[in-house]
Amino acid sequence: MKAASGITAAEFARRRKQLMQMAGEDAILILPAAPERVRSLDTHYPYRQDSDFWYLTGFPEPEAVLALIPGRRHGEVVLFCRPRDPERESWDGPRAGQEGAVERYGMDDAYPIEDMDEILPGLLEGRSRVYYHFGREPEFDRTLISWVNQVRAQVRHGAQPPHEFLELGHLLHEQRLFKSKDELRLMQRAADISVQAHLAAMHGAHAGVHEYQLQAVIECVFRASDAWPAYGSIVGAGANGCVLHYVANNAAARDGELVLIDAGAEYRGYASDITRTFPVNGRFTPEQRALHDLVTQAQQAAMAQARPGVPYEAGHQAAVETLTEGLLQLGLLSGTLEENLAEASYKRFYRHKTGHWLGLDTHDVGDYRIDGQSRLLEPGMVFTIEPGLYIAPDDTSVAAKWRGIGIRTEDNVVITANGHEVLTAALARSAEEIEAVMAARVA
Ligand code: GLY
Ligand code: MN
Ligand code: MN
Repeated sequence: MKAASGITAAEFARRRKQLMQMAGEDAILILPAAPERVRSLDTHYPYRQDSDFWYLTGFPEPEAVLALIPGRRHGEVVLFCRPRDPERESWDGPRAGQEGAVERYGMDDAYPIEDMDEILPGLLEGRSRVYYHFGREPEFDRTLISWVNQVRAQVRHGAQPPHEFLELGHLLHEQRLFKSKDELRLMQRAADISVQAHLAAMHGAHAGVHEYQLQAVIECVFRASDAWPAYGSIVGAGANGCVLHYVANNAAARDGELVLIDAGAEYRGYASDITRTFPVNGRFTPEQRALHDLVTQAQQAAMAQARPGVPYEAGHQAAVETLTEGLLQLGLLSGTLEENLAEASYKRFYRHKTGHWLGLDTHDVGDYRIDGQSRLLEPGMVFTIEPGLYIAPDDTSVAAKWRGIGIRTEDNVVITANGHEVLTAALARSAEEIEAVMAARVA
């Protein structure tokens, strides 16, 4: 049966099994759910489950802790969660309770969260290694230490306390880096929703439109498709496009300006992450067009490196070389290509990397380097390719006609057996394609 998570109970069980196998029989793994976070007095931010906890359970509630205890005879998968409580549920919505945790979420056993202090020290006893995310939630760190100390206090009575404490991310994040068929299906859906949202924003653009109005168009499509923004939508008109994490979204787009929109839907927990930059009046100026074409070329150069066996960093290298060459041709840099590459002078106009892993987190988990070397791409890895150029409005070292132009083009790719697929391929990308979409607007 497919749960509301879009992932089968069998797949969740497989993930837990694989993780427990890697951890070994003398280990215990402990994962708390994300806490609820206060936004203002009695109101909370919309609840978002911790990605690691979600990956292993699909359990949507706060105040829960998962303990994986490989080889334990009375059950390897134990969940502590809130008990049923009709009075509270009439305020906050239904809870699974212990029965639901076992029946609907495939736990071997479930206990009320209130009983955890009593039960967990006993689960730690006899396990030599504890896998846990130390330092994420200081309060839970202290609780865990107190449980370990309780076991230590019993040493004279023969108790065996754990003596190795390991970072859970090492094992789990390597596992999360490789997406399954069902995960890719959800990521394709997140990408499709985001494509529709960006199209709607292009269609809704006109001189004078406020950035927040375009944000509303984008997020309306997300919510209407049962998705959420995966991160704070960035809508930057004109020079605001040069601010990499612009979030104010409160300016009006003037005739002749570009609008940079970096927005992606999160669907069933999985993120997409798309950026497009388009002229608010539908036509690029020659300078905007020249820079947009260069970013397109840089993205194509990076995409050509997206295949199995190629180092992850080759995409960034290819983008940087293409950008540097183009900036020299446009007169925005001077000197030889070799000099400029050696000095990384592109950094004046391109300050970020060309991408990141994508998955349950927008900046997803997984190592980029192994033993100091860029890791090689393998099927199932998903990442963004997002070159850009940002000419600061007050950069007097370049001709005035270039100033205040900010451009980024961002797509999502998955590595396949033979190369890659672009999850966000359906959205207009080149300047020509974008102008064609905007020409089709109904006035
Ligand atoms: N939207 C965040 C990023 O592109 O990395
Ligand atoms: Mn990104
Ligand atoms: Mn982005």
